[in-house]
Amino acid sequence: MAKAPMRVAVTGAAGQIGYSLLFRIANGDMLGKDQPVILQLLEIPDEKAQKALKGVMMEIDDCAFPLLAGMTAHSDPMTAFKDADVALLVGARPRGPGMERKDLLEANAQIFTVQGKALDAVASRNVKVLVVGNPANTNAYIAMKSAPNLPAKNFTAMLRLDHNRALSQLAAKVGKPITSIEKLCVWGNHSPTMYADFTHATVDGQPAKALVNDEAWTKDVYLPTVGKRGAAIIEARGLSSAASAANAAIDHVRDWVLGTNGKWTTMGIPSDGSYGIPEGTMFGFPVTTENGEYKIVQGLQVDAFSQERINLTLKELQEERDGVKHLVG
Ligand code: NAD
Ligand code: LMR
Repeated sequence: MAKAPMRVAVTGAAGQIGYSLLFRIANGDMLGKDQPVILQLLEIPDEKAQKALKGVMMEIDDCAFPLLAGMTAHSDPMTAFKDADVALLVGARPRGPGMERKDLLEANAQIFTVQGKALDAVASRNVKVLVVGNPANTNAYIAMKSAPNLPAKNFTAMLRLDHNRALSQLAAKVGKPITSIEKLCVWGNHSPTMYADFTHATVDGQPAKALVNDEAWTKDVYLPTVGKRGAAIIEARGLSSAASAANAAIDHVRDWVLGTNGKWTTMGIPSDGSYGIPEGTMFGFPVTTENGEYKIVQGLQVDAFSQERINLTLKELQEERDGVKHLVG
C-alpha cells in the first residue's frame, strides 16, 4: 500500500539553497523513493519574492515528480507550517563579502522567534525541524525556545555541511575514498570556531590520526580549511554555498528519518549535558540515528587539544545566546 504523504515545509523557498533543495526533496532523495511528499513553501510577502516562488513552483510542476502529492505557496508561517512533519528553515539573510555572522544575529533572531511560535501553534507534534539559515545554531535555539509546546529534541541545526567538508578534506589527505572514513564529527557552532575532530576517526578501520600523523597540517591547514570553507566559497563565488548546503540538508534529514545503521554523523542538537556542554545549548555532536531519533555517541575520550577547541566554540555559542537573551527570555 502506498505511504501517506509527508508534509515538508521549506522557508526561503525562492532562494539559492531552495532552488537546489526542493527538486531533490520532490525526487525522494530526502525521505525515500517510496515516500510521497507535499511541499509547503514559505517566502516573504514581498511581491518579487512571491513571484519568484511561483516560478520555482512552475519548474517543479514541469518535472512531473511521481512522489509530489501537492505543493502550496505561503507568505505566512502559520499556514506554511500547518501539520508539517518536516520543517526546513532556510530563509534568512545570507552573509555577504566581509560581513561577520554576528552582524546578522539580531535581524535573524526576529525571524526565528516568529517561526518558532508558528511551529509551536500549528506543526505536527512530531515535526522534525532543521535550521539552515545563519547563524544556524542560535537561530535553532531561538526557534526551540519559542516553541515550548514542542519537544526541544525536535529542533536541530545544520552542522552536516561542516561534517561533509571535514570528510572530504580528510579523504583527500589520506588518499582514500569518503566511504573508507568512519567516526568523524564536528563539535560546536556552525562558524569558524567549529572543531572538526578526527581523533576518533578510522580509515578502512585504521586510526586516522596515526595515518595523518601531521600535527602542523591538522592545526594550520585542516581545521582552518574546514572552519573557513563557507567564507572561502563566498569569496570565490560572490554568493554563499547553495548546492552543497542543500545537499547537506538532505543528508541531515534523511539520516534523522531513515537512520545511520550505527554509523556516526554530526547534528546540531540541544545538549543533554553530555561532554560538559550545558543542557539546551544547540551544539554539534557526534550522533547515531535509529527509528527517527538521534543519540549522542557516548564515552569518548576527549584529549586536551580537543577540549580546548570545544571550549572555544562553546564560548562563542554562549555569547551568541547572550546576545539574543532579550528575545527568548
Ligand atoms: P538567499 O538569499 O538566496 O535566499 C534566502 C531566501 O529566504 C530569500 O528568497 C528570502 O526572500 C527568504 N527569506 C528571508 N526571510 C524570510 C522569512 N522570514 N521567511 C521566509 N523566507 C524568508 O540565501 P541562501 O543562499 O538560500 O541561504 C539561506 C541561508 O542559509 C543563509 O542564512 C545562509 O547564510 C545559510 N546557509 C547556511 C549553511 C549551513 O551550513 N548552516 C550553509 C549555507 C548557507
Ligand atoms: C557556509 O558554511 O557555506 C555558510 O554558512 C556561509 C555563510 O555564511 O552563509
